[in-house]
Amino acid sequence: MASAARRRRETEIVPLELFPMESSVLPGALPLPGDPPLDFKDPAFASNKTLPIHRWVPWIAGFASGFVRDALAKYLLQPGVVLDPFAGVGTTLVEAMLAGHDAVGFEINPYAALASQVKTSLAKLPLAEVRTAVHEFVAFYQNAIATEYQPQSSSPSGFTSRVPFYSPLVLRKVLIVQDFIVTRDVPAIQRLFQLAFAATMVSYSNYSYEPSLGRRVSSGKADILDFPVMDAIVAKLHEYCADIAWYQAHQPHFAAQARIIPSSFFDYQHHLAPASVDCIVTSPPYLNNYHYNRNTRPHLYWLGFANQPRDLRALEEANFGKYWQTVRDQPALPLSFSLPHSDLAERIAELRECNTARGIYGGNGWANYATTYFNDCYRLAEGMAYALKSGSRALVVIGNSILQGVFIPTDVYLGQIAEAVGLERVGISVPRATRVGNSITKSTVRVGKAAEGHRLYEAVVELRKP
Ligand SMILES: C[S@@+](CC[C@H](N)C(=O)[O-])C[C@H]1O[C@@H](n2cnc3c(N)ncnc32)[C@H](O)[C@@H]1O
Repeated sequence: MASAARRRRETEIVPLELFPMESSVLPGALPLPGDPPLDFKDPAFASNKTLPIHRWVPWIAGFASGFVRDALAKYLLQPGVVLDPFAGVGTTLVEAMLAGHDAVGFEINPYAALASQVKTSLAKLPLAEVRTAVHEFVAFYQNAIATEYQPQSSSPSGFTSRVPFYSPLVLRKVLIVQDFIVTRDVPAIQRLFQLAFAATMVSYSNYSYEPSLGRRVSSGKADILDFPVMDAIVAKLHEYCADIAWYQAHQPHFAAQARIIPSSFFDYQHHLAPASVDCIVTSPPYLNNYHYNRNTRPHLYWLGFANQPRDLRALEEANFGKYWQTVRDQPALPLSFSLPHSDLAERIAELRECNTARGIYGGNGWANYATTYFNDCYRLAEGMAYALKSGSRALVVIGNSILQGVFIPTDVYLGQIAEAVGLERVGISVPRATRVGNSITKSTVRVGKAAEGHRLYEAVVELRKP
């Protein structure tokens, strides 16, 4: 009891009794107190910010761990393989492992893939060495601050920003942090420190998420002239240590494995055997042009994943649905499939005719973007049909869209596309009727004359392989 109480104090959040070590029941199958047993919860990420492991890295476009837990509890009562084709920072993968399932995730953004990879390798992290490294970090940093220490590291040369990303006093501290990180010779510990830095790095910069990354002054906030950088990173590392300790204390119960594939899901045939997956829980990028690569530029450059704009270009091309910026100036792009009993093609044609006088900002560019998006929805549906075992489910969280005033029910179209590749559309539910954080609705250029009454929502499209 004493050690259970101690562990509980360390994490302060997770009710350990939800995961009884002696039980042969999968912990994911146990309902949380007060949960509606078979309903989908709000899939938004915000609640993850206080939960063990999920709290490690902020991610604007993630979904709630409770939603994943419900889904797995409902559909996967025996240990199985859970796939997330768009793993992000690993919400599905972590929940799958906590529930005793093996997990496979694809993620093209190297920063998000790193987060997923670190968060799903807790079992192997040498906790005592991590704690020692945290002490060494504090000593190294404090000594450097107190002396004339000259950092050896430098800002990533290819990383440009409209105003200096860090003020001079903050930059010196950040470079001291980098000096410490590069000298770590245990890769797992180095990655953990990189993640702690990446998870906090925007909070002491002159930029902020609104929800896209922009200058603080543009949203009425003062620049950050100085900041206790070490405190922010150490606070993160303490969270990590508490969660690693909790996880490892229960490790026999969590014997599951995770595999992170840092590439596009569209390479699935190289990495997955057909009919090898028991459940898919995922959320692809929405048709809102949220620019994952631009919004993680600081992370990609400072972690060494990008050295020049060309490196991001490849990511943009591989991104699900591409981006409006990459297709807006091309001639009309065709849908790669046809859908019986659907008005998708007509809806895109209507969009193409909007605001034709506005050149690349008019309807054709947005119609091209919608076209590439639905072409990728078709490839996603094919991939899910390939990967799922017969009788297994896929739950796809997707947001609708309003482009140039034209309402695009992506959930309905995805369901129709899934049926076209042989999946059964079980149903579509809308747990959250109003979505926040969608830059597209805030831009008059993009919305134009959005019809009254159209609302943004997130839907869960539930599919089954016959
Ligand atoms: C809505 S987010 C998923 C967030 C995730 N559910 C979570 O909670 O962290 C979509 C993710 O898809 C990734 N992505 C975009 N195109 C991809 C592709 N072709 N293959 C794999 N991942 C991709 C993006 O980088 C982004 O992290």
